[in-house]
Amino acid sequence: MPVLSEDLRQAIENYTHRYATRQAALLPALHLIQDRFRCVPAAAIEELADLLDLHPAQVYDTLSFYGFFRDAEHPLGKFRVWVCRSLPCMLRGGEDLLDGLCRYLHVEPGQTTPDGSFTLEYAECLGACELAPCLLVNDECHGPLTLEAARQLLDQLRQQGGQHGI
Ligand code: FES
Repeated sequence: MPVLSEDLRQAIENYTHRYATRQAALLPALHLIQDRFRCVPAAAIEELADLLDLHPAQVYDTLSFYGFFRDAEHPLGKFRVWVCRSLPCMLRGGEDLLDGLCRYLHVEPGQTTPDGSFTLEYAECLGACELAPCLLVNDECHGPLTLEAARQLLDQLRQQGGQHGI
């Protein structure tokens, strides 16, 4: 049974029309797959290679080059939380924010909480220095945040996630 569903294949196919070659749709396709599964399952590599006329090794090369992508052993939580650690955020307490959230969630940067709610990571400048210190939750930037405000935000998200079956 294929890992990539028909709708996912179609979404990938749609990307191929935006580029000069099918192969050039590889990165957006990997994003779509990770969005769907919270990782890129090994079985998806061959299917994607087939779909984009690539060798599986070429897909794997790209996949493993970027720390952004996760394998099935290290899937993302429902919410991926990036805490900025670049200078403007650091000067405004970003380091304490990251440390505090690590302690609050009982994880190290890069790890996912056992309930699958959060993956906590550090990021370089998120391009929102005016919000320093800030963090990104999936695609949404929040800031400026105290540790207390960040904890409340995560509590709210966890609650929302619970309502949606986390
Ligand atoms: S330094 Fe944190 S958003 Fe720019």
